[in-house]
Amino acid sequence: MGRDYHVPVMADRVEHWLGSIDGTIVDATFGGGGHSRVLLEANPALRVLALDRDPDAGLQSASFGSRLVFRQADFRTLESVLQEEQLDEIDGALFDLGVSSHQLDVGERGFSYRRRGPLDMRMGPDAGLDAEVVVNQWSRADVVRILRRYGEERHASRIAGAIVRARPIADTLELAGVVANAMPARSRRAGHPARRTFQAIRIAVNDELAALTDVLDVAVRMLRHDGRILVISYHSLEDRIVKRRFAAGSVDCTCPPDFPVCVCDTVAELRILSRGETPSTDEIEGNPRARSARLRVAERVG
Ligand SMILES: C[S@@+](CC[C@H](N)C(=O)[O-])C[C@H]1O[C@@H](n2cnc3c(N)ncnc32)[C@H](O)[C@@H]1O
Repeated sequence: MGRDYHVPVMADRVEHWLGSIDGTIVDATFGGGGHSRVLLEANPALRVLALDRDPDAGLQSASFGSRLVFRQADFRTLESVLQEEQLDEIDGALFDLGVSSHQLDVGERGFSYRRRGPLDMRMGPDAGLDAEVVVNQWSRADVVRILRRYGEERHASRIAGAIVRARPIADTLELAGVVANAMPARSRRAGHPARRTFQAIRIAVNDELAALTDVLDVAVRMLRHDGRILVISYHSLEDRIVKRRFAAGSVDCTCPPDFPVCVCDTVAELRILSRGETPSTDEIEGNPRARSARLRVAERVG
């Protein structure tokens, strides 16, 4: 559990919302355990069930004894992990989405457009796909589709065409070069030209948006009354999924507005506590990876 591995983002806000909860919370994206450490140190009555898809995560999780249990698992399997841990409900859940600094910093993982590494980008060995297949085998149309959908990349068509023409692409830096050369010169000024392409491929490889959609339903269902769910997202696609799920869970009636009486009997299951907190400028200065973070918080009701 070290800052070398990953500096936890908005740790003070996570402590604010979860630090006084007694019982068991799920840290579904344990990474280097920075958030878990803050919570376990703040509250001796708290236990953490930590999950991460990445076998490199959780390595130094021993120091809290039985208060911290780590399971290498995709958070999509949360329900079965809870059953195996004999937990009928949880008191809180934290999702700190995306990649850890460790994953970006280790070139061999293939996440970074600044380091040479294999075209991998799997968060864990269980992923059924890797970047090599996307980059060197997918049809141009499929590459365009993910660049548009997951990268929100305006130049998707040009980039996909360049990728297909350059095949076989050997590694991350070669891919980053192909993408950069495909971009119109005026677009190269706003951040690294390959950032959106790498994001799109990573999201596709790890099926990140579907995983998030699925797990939010499970986590909300498993939360006890008054239990809290926190999600820190790093781009608008993730944030939109969280925003919509929280909004859908917080309405009492979904009948069309012109119905004279409610016939749906929908009862809110969530109360929204925070619609989107962002890191302070001080935090962003000290940890630029916090730049795009947005935290949403809801509480189970009903
Ligand atoms: C931003 S890091 C979390 C950092 C952590 N909060 C800390 O303080 O060190 C995100 C982590 O989520 C993990 N992750 C992403 N998708 C996952 C999934 N579907 N299931 C389990 N872990 C996942 C990644 O492997 C990565 O370690």
